[in-house]
Amino acid sequence: MAFIEVKNVSFGYGHKTPFEVQALNNVSFSVEKGECISVIGHTGSGKSTLMQMLNALIKPEAGEILINGKNINADKKSVSAARFTVGLCFQYPEYQLFGETCFEDIAFGPRNMGLNEEEVKKRVLQAAGFVHLKTEKLDVSPFDLSGGQKRRCAIAGVMAMLPEVLILDEPTAGLDPSGRESVLRMIERYREHTGATVILVTHSMEIAAQMSNRILVLNKGEIAYYGTPQEIFSHSNELISMGLNVPSFTKIMIALRRLGYNAQDVYTVEEAAKQIGALIRGGRDT
Ligand SMILES: Nc1ncnc2c1ncn2[C@@H]1O[C@H](COP(=O)(O)OP(=O)(O)OP(=O)(O)O)[C@@H](O)[C@H]1O
Ligand SMILES: [Mg+2]
Repeated sequence: MAFIEVKNVSFGYGHKTPFEVQALNNVSFSVEKGECISVIGHTGSGKSTLMQMLNALIKPEAGEILINGKNINADKKSVSAARFTVGLCFQYPEYQLFGETCFEDIAFGPRNMGLNEEEVKKRVLQAAGFVHLKTEKLDVSPFDLSGGQKRRCAIAGVMAMLPEVLILDEPTAGLDPSGRESVLRMIERYREHTGATVILVTHSMEIAAQMSNRILVLNKGEIAYYGTPQEIFSHSNELISMGLNVPSFTKIMIALRRLGYNAQDVYTVEEAAKQIGALIRGGRDT
């Protein structure tokens, strides 16, 4: 049995109103412990709805979600257990900062878990370390931080609960390239340190290719594909017709093939460099 099992899950908003929408329709997939999964899909494809379901904020109208073999919505106790097992960092999490100091903000989750103050302090310092937030910033109001630092503080608040499953809904949205890179590095640090399972919603195909061992593609509330980056990006035409993109390196290879070169699909800088190097040495195939 897989660590996380999503079985035939469906959910709609606004039933019996003119705004009724079926956000998820019969979605099934599983995640093994320690995997890093990226979820991609056009805007409105159901990504955020699915993420909120994984920590029991939204209950499926049909189907069920099992973590470690247990239905997370079985009863009240299971629901609150899921909130701690699965840490969810929302889109633009910095909008939810509210503490007087960063320390207070990051401490909110661990305090909710009923940990004593000594353990809470340990968790806050550890989480600040994961996100490279300097200790002196912990005494500052989160509202006095820069945009990137606010994001880090908000993510630290989720990491401080040491969730076994860390879900981040578009954690790099609106950040500049160096901010993006630092968020990705802190997710990697968290994974390395805790062995956590990570689920990442992203609009960036490069990030999906670089970070995850499997990619889930949602299209209009249904799973279009679920597989390794290699499998997913071999469907470049279908992805493009869903309004999605493929990594730029994959596009370069497709363009080279059109020019008559024997270029295989790749999706990382290193692989693209290797292939292009080989093509330069070998010349045209036709
Ligand atoms: N609270 C809500 N009330 C009504 N409809 C909603 C609500 N939240 C989402 N929806 C609708 O449900 C569908 C799925 O939305 P969801 O937010 O899960 O998509 P998404 O893939 O996260 O999109 P995005 O990439 O824009 O974040 C969309 O049609 C959306 O308009
Ligand atoms: Mg969303």
